[in-house]
Amino acid sequence: MTEAKFRVAIIGCGRMGQHYAEAYSAYPDTEIVAIAEHDPDRLQVVGERFGVKALYPDVDSLLRDVVPDVAAVITPTKFYKHAVIACAQAGVKGVSTDKPIAARLSDADEMIEACESRGVVHAGGNLMKCLDETQETARRLRDGVYGEIIGGAIPGFRRQIVGGGCQSILLAELLMDAEIEEVIAWGEPPEVLETNTDVGLSISGVFRMGNGLECNVYGMEVSRGYVDVWTEDTFIRGTNLPPEIYRGYDEKGARIRLEPDFQPYEWSEFGYLTGSIRSLLAAVDTGSTPRVTGADLRKALEVAIAAKQSVLLRNAPVKLPLEDRSLTLYPTPHRWGGYDSVGNPQPLADAAKPKFS
Ligand SMILES: NC(=O)c1ccc[n+]([C@@H]2O[C@H](COP(=O)([O-])OP(=O)(O)OC[C@H]3O[C@@H](n4cnc5c(N)ncnc54)[C@H](O)[C@@H]3O)[C@@H](O)[C@H]2O)c1
Repeated sequence: MTEAKFRVAIIGCGRMGQHYAEAYSAYPDTEIVAIAEHDPDRLQVVGERFGVKALYPDVDSLLRDVVPDVAAVITPTKFYKHAVIACAQAGVKGVSTDKPIAARLSDADEMIEACESRGVVHAGGNLMKCLDETQETARRLRDGVYGEIIGGAIPGFRRQIVGGGCQSILLAELLMDAEIEEVIAWGEPPEVLETNTDVGLSISGVFRMGNGLECNVYGMEVSRGYVDVWTEDTFIRGTNLPPEIYRGYDEKGARIRLEPDFQPYEWSEFGYLTGSIRSLLAAVDTGSTPRVTGADLRKALEVAIAAKQSVLLRNAPVKLPLEDRSLTLYPTPHRWGGYDSVGNPQPLADAAKPKFS
């Protein structure tokens, strides 16, 4: 058997880490060579499940023995910074984190700097914007296939504005083909606004984009999409699945859904994770840019923090990037510290089960 092109380490192998490990096990050019996982029982179980013998309790002991080409960091967010910087310093060529990248802006800055200064590719993880069909829809929008974009909306800021909100923010920038440059927001409830967490926070407002477009943001869920974008005659709904594209109405007043004719592609069973990982590997190989970068994840954190700042400033417009890098917004405790920290650890029997067999 020839050696795989990319030697991969999984750092943190809980629920989401196992999803990554399934994907990395399926691709013909990647091999998982080591796993670092805090929980010793889970470590043994996932080691057996993925046929990996090099098992470590933490990233530092792993890096003392093995320097992989790629490290997928999927611990709870609290531990990302240490792991990313350790990987960059050890000589890993590509490292990914998931969402949110951090709670404090300066922590995200440090991770990005540690990678940039060493030429390490820093990618984001399981983000909807990476789905092939979503990328193709964005390309068609850019090329004017559906006409000129007139506006956009986030029809439900998902309550967790640094957690799930990340998905909407990055989808809006991709599909509206511009960066969010300014945020004006209204929010509630007051008791959550006094804290530095996004749990239960509801934010509405407007994101002003670099191309002059506005993206309206609804704190309550007004529809099931993550982002809606419209042109003069076409309506595009960005979701966690391939975008829905509509033009015109039928006799009952329902929108008519177009058949977008997306091309099938390999490993689509892993959803947007495939687009994310394959673009990370291409970036390590050729110097291209991953579909989601560490800087994109920082931007999503920054937009969420700006939205909260605008509310606290009595709905003043807040420009990006933010000057105060000490600003912090924590995600839900399970994202920050892991499910174990909220008393809902993954049962070992589930960790042992292959999902895609
Ligand atoms: N993009 C998405 O759709 C999505 C979905 C769910 C979770 N996430 C993110 O993925 C991350 C992990 O979430 P999860 O659901 O897998 O949580 P989880 O609690 O199921 O798994 C985290 C794992 O990391 C291990 N761990 C904790 N600290 C560690 C350390 N320092 N070194 C090594 N291992 C460590 C834990 O023992 C656990 O097995 C979070 O940041 C979360 O926000 C992203």
